[in-house]
Amino acid sequence: MSKLSKRLEMVANFIDNNDKSVIDIGCDHGLLSIYLANKFKNLKIIASDVNKNALDNAKKNITKCGLNDRIETRLGSGISVINNNDNIDTIVVAGMGTNTIVEFLKCSRDKLVNVNKIIIQSNTDLYFLRKNMVSMGYFIDDEELVVDKGIIYTIIKFVKGKMKYSYKELYLGPILISKNSDLFIDKCTKELNNMKKILKNISKGHYLYKLKLKKNIRILENIT
Ligand SMILES: C[S@@+](CC[C@H](N)C(=O)[O-])C[C@H]1O[C@@H](n2cnc3c(N)ncnc32)[C@H](O)[C@@H]1O
Repeated sequence: MSKLSKRLEMVANFIDNNDKSVIDIGCDHGLLSIYLANKFKNLKIIASDVNKNALDNAKKNITKCGLNDRIETRLGSGISVINNNDNIDTIVVAGMGTNTIVEFLKCSRDKLVNVNKIIIQSNTDLYFLRKNMVSMGYFIDDEELVVDKGIIYTIIKFVKGKMKYSYKELYLGPILISKNSDLFIDKCTKELNNMKKILKNISKGHYLYKLKLKKNIRILENIT
């Protein structure tokens, strides 16, 4: 069985003994669910995926580890696979794009009634992710960065509750800004260089997009 990546290990670090029932959405190989089952003996775990081949792969790995009685697998999209009897209090989603995550959470808001904590590692548009999670009644309780195979990943822990954030906080992460780690500065520097390159190469027009780029560049220049 392959070892858990540094990225997924960091995601797993956000689970603790207070969590009773978790769903690992888009489990793919199932390695995160397997790791959680071994670490938390009382945690109820559902591993789900929209892709049958991926879920079959997860099932094989779960069986190999002798964890069939600990991890239930479900085929389907997002949180549509859970029902009230599952009493899911924690959702984990890793390695998926923000649009997909926001869409499946918004589509089944009624399934979030008992969900207190949502841990997300997304690869795209974290401003959009934070903004939508806040609009769904979750605040940003913690955030971490991790480097895995040369890529900097952001993991965000959302907890049920209300909080207001500035544009800068939604863009860069309120907790990451306050932690101000070397890795955060590194991430901002890379993003700044990338945005400057895009702005330089962008063709005529795209007025609103250019305004947004310039706004983000100003914010990043004050951080780095
Ligand atoms: C890149 S893999 C990430 C796997 C694992 N979570 C990780 O971080 O290594 C993304 C997985 O999400 C699944 N997926 C994509 N959209 C989904 C959806 N709407 N609901 C459930 N799973 C989905 C894909 O089938 C795929 O297995």
